[in-house]
Amino acid sequence: MTTNSSLSNAQFAFLDLKPDLDVIVGEVQQSLSLEAKSISPKFFYDERGSELFDAITELPEYYVTRTEMALFDAHMEEISDSLEENICVIEYGSGSTKKIRRLLDVLKPEAYVPVDISGDYLLSNAQTLLGDFPALKIFPVCADITESFALPTQVSELRPLGFYPGSSIGNFEPAKAVDFLKRVHATLGTGGYFLVGVDAKKDVSILEAAYDDAAGVTAQFNLNTLVHLNEKLGADFDLDQFVHFSKYNSDQGCIQMFLKSSVAQQVNVAGKVISFAEGELLHTENSYKYAKQEFITLAQSAQFECLKSWQDDNEWFSLFLLRAC
Ligand code: TRP
Repeated sequence: MTTNSSLSNAQFAFLDLKPDLDVIVGEVQQSLSLEAKSISPKFFYDERGSELFDAITELPEYYVTRTEMALFDAHMEEISDSLEENICVIEYGSGSTKKIRRLLDVLKPEAYVPVDISGDYLLSNAQTLLGDFPALKIFPVCADITESFALPTQVSELRPLGFYPGSSIGNFEPAKAVDFLKRVHATLGTGGYFLVGVDAKKDVSILEAAYDDAAGVTAQFNLNTLVHLNEKLGADFDLDQFVHFSKYNSDQGCIQMFLKSSVAQQVNVAGKVISFAEGELLHTENSYKYAKQEFITLAQSAQFECLKSWQDDNEWFSLFLLRAC
C-alpha cells in the first residue's frame, strides 16, 4: 500500500491499494486452468476498457445507462431528502465520473471517495472532478472492489453513502452478490446508506441486443480483456483467433458473455501454456437481472433494509436506497 504524498493534502489524497502483479498472475492462471475457463470481469477495465465501456453506455441498444440516468434525474431530490447531513459518497467502480456529477450537484456531500481498479484513469478523472467541484474533498482509492478495503481515515466522521450504479452488482453470481453486500456493510458500518442501480428481467431480444450491439463495440470491449492480459501479464493471446459471444440464460436469469476460440490453439500466459479447443468458450462475465422483490430479498440477506425504490414506467431498471442495519 502506498499513499502518494505529492498528491496528498486535506482536500485531495490518492490511496493505492492495487493488488500485486504476482497475485494477479496466479489468479488468472488458475481460472484459465479450470475445466470451464474464465477470466474475472475486472480485467475488462484497463484505460482502454474503461473508455470502451463509456462508449457502450451511449449505444442505442444499451438501454441500461440511459434508463438509470433518467431515474436519477427524476428522483435525486427525493433521494437527497431521505439522507442525513454530512454525507460522504463512496462510489464502487467509479470509472468515468459522468454519473456522479449529477449526484454531486444535488446531494452536495462533504467528501467523495471514488474506488476503482484502473488507477491512472481513476486519478486523472478525480483530478478533473476536483477542478469542477472546488469545494469538494476527494479521496480516490485504487482497489479491487471485489475484496475488502477500508475507507480513507479522512472520512471517518462522515455518514457514508455507498453508490453502485450501472447494475454492476448483477456481475456477481447471486451468492457472491450477497458476500459483496456483506463486505459493503462492513465498510460502511451500521447506518450507512447504499444507493444501487439494478437491471430488471425483460424481453430476451432486448437483453441480447444490449450485450451484442450492431456496431461491435461490446465485442471490442470483451476482446480488450485479452489485450489487457497481453500487456499486463505478458500473455500472447491472438486477438484474431477469438470472437465475442453472448447469450441470455433464462434458467439463471443472466446474460453470459464469452470469448470463443475460433481454432484449436495454445496461449502462453506468463509462462503457463493454456490449450484451447476449437469452439471452446472462455467465460468473461455474467450480468444477472433481478425483479424488484428478488433484489430486496437478496439485500436483506446481507442485513440491508430497503428504504425506498424507484422504477421506470417500463420496469426495465430499478434504483434502491438501502440502509445497513
Ligand atoms: N455492469 C454492466 C452490465 O452488466 C457491464 C457490461 C455492460 C458489460 N456491457 C457489457 C460487460 C459487455 C461485458 C460486456 O450491464
